[in-house]
Amino acid sequence: MAYSKEVVDRFESVLANPNAHGVGRFDPKDPNIATGVVGAPACGDVMKLDLKMNGDTIEDVKFKTYGCGSAIASSTLFVELLRGRTIEQAKQIKDKEIAEALELPPIKLHCSVLAEEGIKRAIENWDEKSKHRRHNQTNS
Ligand code: FES
Repeated sequence: MAYSKEVVDRFESVLANPNAHGVGRFDPKDPNIATGVVGAPACGDVMKLDLKMNGDTIEDVKFKTYGCGSAIASSTLFVELLRGRTIEQAKQIKDKEIAEALELPPIKLHCSVLAEEGIKRAIENWDEKSKHRRHNQTNS
């Protein structure tokens, strides 16, 4: 199975310049950071996604993906799509869009699903933190 040109280009670009693609993590102690960690049951690969929030807006994104070229290419595309979006807008981004843009074959569809799951977990994490913050504000 050959990777599409888009996957290969993105993968090579990440290797050449990881910072430009958001590879890494934010300070986990920063209260404005939401994190999602997911594993792909199909292959055992793992993705960690950090959202840097400014109110309801995703100001910046970083990721670490221990996975195949498709998973890394999917991660970079999600990072680009998430920056500057609100949480509600981020929820609308689906793995199918990513799979189509990267021309992923059926056997690699779980790689883009991994990235979508990472976003869902990070958003859940942000919702929990926001609830906790509101709870603390009303009880102080
Ligand atoms: Fe595991 Fe692609 S093969 S994420």
